[in-house]
Amino acid sequence: MKVVVTGAKGQLGKELVKWFRQMEWNVYGYDKDELDITDAQQVISVLGHIHPHVVVHAGAYTKVDEAEKEKEKAFFVNAYGTRNVAVAAEKVGAKLVYVSTDYVFDGAQRVPYHEFSSPNPINIYGKSKLAGEQFVRDFHSRFFIVRTSWVFGAYGNNFVKTMLRLAKEKEEILVVDDQYGCPTYAVDLVQKIYELVQTEKYGLYHISNTGYCSWYEFAKIIFSEMGVNVRVQRCGTKDYLRLAARPSYSVFDHMALRLNGFELLRHWRDALREFLHAYEVKH
Ligand SMILES: NC(=O)c1ccc[n+]([C@@H]2O[C@H](COP(=O)([O-])OP(=O)(O)OC[C@H]3O[C@@H](n4cnc5c(N)ncnc54)[C@H](OP(=O)(O)O)[C@@H]3O)[C@@H](O)[C@H]2O)c1
Repeated sequence: MKVVVTGAKGQLGKELVKWFRQMEWNVYGYDKDELDITDAQQVISVLGHIHPHVVVHAGAYTKVDEAEKEKEKAFFVNAYGTRNVAVAAEKVGAKLVYVSTDYVFDGAQRVPYHEFSSPNPINIYGKSKLAGEQFVRDFHSRFFIVRTSWVFGAYGNNFVKTMLRLAKEKEEILVVDDQYGCPTYAVDLVQKIYELVQTEKYGLYHISNTGYCSWYEFAKIIFSEMGVNVRVQRCGTKDYLRLAARPSYSVFDHMALRLNGFELLRHWRDALREFLHAYEVKH
């Protein structure tokens, strides 16, 4: 089996490449230096040459705050880039996985968002990712749209690594306590994506670990699991001004996994413990 992974040098892309290789698939992992998704012709030519069975599209413009200033770039990559991937994947008959985000929601709800909840993004990044979802629906016939959230893992930068670094540099850390979401271990996510693509249960899926927390609670658990002694103070979103607005609540209900007979992912605390153990061994 052949799989093409876009954004292959990103946090999730690296994990995808590693897992599909382990599963003995032929993996063609490309980042923007080898396959720039904004170049429609290049995308068609690369996919036409490889003829993959599956394309996992993890390449994206992910700088949430900068997107507010670089609006057109965000839409160019996340919307039109995704259209280019959808058109080319459809042309070669490959199943398509598009990785999307919890930031498609506005956060006004106080009950978990399921796959039929109405999106209403409140920042440019979320709007551009939602536009990408729409292009996938418009131009591809056998797709999985996988919305995920608060990803942590071995590669790239993420909240867990940032907290561990800050704990070494500071005596006290301020963390936002009024934004709630679902942490997701990249390894668990790629394994579920792998499971999905072997089925024909196409559609939209919310995939994260189960359970939820605020960023503050997440930080506290990271430090307690690692036995790190640092003062963690809660603060509100209003005390931590950033360019892009964030949803205050983007907790997922995993209804599509449940109704389609897939097992839910383990609780985020169990996944975090496994990640931290592996991280500790390496550092
Ligand atoms: N991380 C999270 O918490 C999270 C949450 C929800 C959804 N997601 C989604 O998950 C996916 C993977 O995210 P990630 O965390 O792995 O982000 P990431 O580490 O930023 O990876 C994205 C990769 O895409 C590449 N890329 C940018 N522009 C491209 C282009 N024109 N053509 C091809 N590749 C391009 C980036 O390269 P450069 O770095 O060189 O620009 C980067 O290597 C994205 O779709 C993101 O929206 C992530």
